Amino acid sequence: MSESMKAVRIHKYGDPDVLTFEAAPRPEPKETELLIHIRAAGVNPVDWKTRTGMASRLLPEDPFPLILGWDVSGVVEAAGNLVTDFKAGDEVYGMVNFPGVGGAYAEYVAAPADHVSHKPTSVDHEHAAALPLASLTAWQALFEAGGLSPGQKVLIHAAAGGVGHIAVQLAKWKGAHVTGTASARNGAFLRELGVDEFVDYTTVKFENVVQDMDVILDSMSGETRERSWGVLKKSGILVTILRPSPEEAAAAHQVRAAHILVRPESNQLSELSKLVDAGQIKPVIDRVFPLKDARKAHEHIQEGHTRGKIVLRISE
Ligand SMILES: NC(=O)c1ccc[n+]([C@@H]2O[C@H](COP(=O)([O-])OP(=O)(O)OC[C@H]3O[C@@H](n4cnc5c(N)ncnc54)[C@H](OP(=O)(O)O)[C@@H]3O)[C@@H](O)[C@H]2O)c1
Repeated sequence: MSESMKAVRIHKYGDPDVLTFEAAPRPEPKETELLIHIRAAGVNPVDWKTRTGMASRLLPEDPFPLILGWDVSGVVEAAGNLVTDFKAGDEVYGMVNFPGVGGAYAEYVAAPADHVSHKPTSVDHEHAAALPLASLTAWQALFEAGGLSPGQKVLIHAAAGGVGHIAVQLAKWKGAHVTGTASARNGAFLRELGVDEFVDYTTVKFENVVQDMDVILDSMSGETRERSWGVLKKSGILVTILRPSPEEAAAAHQVRAAHILVRPESNQLSELSKLVDAGQIKPVIDRVFPLKDARKAHEHIQEGHTRGKIVLRISE
């Protein structure tokens, strides 16, 4: 019989109280996988969407009992025979098994070695766990889909959130001119992160004060996206991380658009580690909850006003 571990699982889709802290079988790594002893797990909006069933397209048909979560930071416990880049004892972080059954809300996870990278050495596991999904999303949206280059103007919606606060810092590192939207309570926070212009969306219509954007990062969709088309340059691009896909609306406005779903990318995590260790990128934690309080973490993130990231502490 396999060894057991502590985990938070769901046995059906539903409200936060379906999250159950209990014993679960410890996973066995395949030949190309690592068994990671998780120290901390990042919590993302996709976690609560998955819990409710809204994001069930990311999962196999009958995923229960299901361990949620994709962001981990921890220590390699064992490496499969075919793994060459990591060994037991290495500190790693990554967005593992995405899309699919993540398995991060647990003491151990088995994950493909190419889903992780060496953890930044200058931050603890909680801060490292705050990084992968949000940072990979920001990187892939701004640089791959958006082609953001030095001197360009970028508008980052929800700039104080998980994706936004990293996107602001990556865009500044790239040498872009950054405008970020958030409510007034996050103005000072965003200025500290480096935004050139801050728009309080509760009192100012951004389309009245922002124009000629080269790139827009849309993590709001809905009417925020609709009002964004008019502030793009003709050659500009809106990159969204939410559905529905924007191509039709973009064509109607004669601008470009792209939709991305984040993917694991070890090389990008390595670059991000270097940027964190060089002090260029700082992951910010809103709140840390112990694993057994995953329910509270979900209630908090579901409110939609996280500053930075929510993290679960799993083991010391
Ligand atoms: N496609 C993908 O691969 C992908 C990847 C990552 C995330 N996502 C999705 O992208 C969305 C954002 O993710 P996240 O992790 O950044 O979420 P998050 O951390 O929960 O975002 C919270 C932030 O949203 C801000 N906000 C709320 N309403 C706003 C508005 N009307 N205008 C501007 N800012 C507003 C809040 O600022 P205030 O408190 O100041 O209001 C808060 O700081 C989620 O829906 C997530 O599921 C998709």
